[in-house]
Amino acid sequence: MSLTKTERAIITSIWDKMSVQADAIGTETLERLFSSYLQTKTYFPHFNLHPGSPQLHAHGSKVVAALGDAVKNIDNMQVALTKLSDLHAYVLHVDPVNFKFLSHCLLVTLATHFPADFTADVHAAWDKFMSIVSSILTKKYR
Ligand code: HEM
Repeated sequence: MSLTKTERAIITSIWDKMSVQADAIGTETLERLFSSYLQTKTYFPHFNLHPGSPQLHAHGSKVVAALGDAVKNIDNMQVALTKLSDLHAYVLHVDPVNFKFLSHCLLVTLATHFPADFTADVHAAWDKFMSIVSSILTKKYR
């Protein structure tokens, strides 16, 4: 699965908007993840997951920053995400299904922050981008 030129342009243009509110987007994505998909909380027993928790903010920012690395290396995401791929597979053992949940929560967050931009084409391009990122991060399982 690869992104078309148009999809790349869409990803980059939304990234430019979301990067200036990385903390808010990341935190809301995680709040939605932990509220809607309770089982995802089990990977974070060492975190305070209450809304507004500094750990939630810090982790949300890290997740969005990692997506930024992927956007900046959109032609070479595999290499850019290698370390994270090892971490999620070998150290954290995150069940791949959870990547679908996180991706969904990010899309809902983007839709609520940028309602005018979130057309069907933007939705589809970001869905594809998150599928590619997720498949790289879960590749080592197979
Ligand atoms: C850690 C990104 C999906 C659980 C991290 C870190 C990043 C990251 C950047 C910090 C790495 C570091 O500190 O060196 C991502 C991205 C994801 C994703 C981009 C999907 C697109 C998930 C999912 C789960 C998960 C679905 C489980 C529900 C964790 C845990 C940590 C972690 C438990 C360690 C937290 C800590 O102890 O600091 N992830 N992640 N991740 N991630 Fe993910």
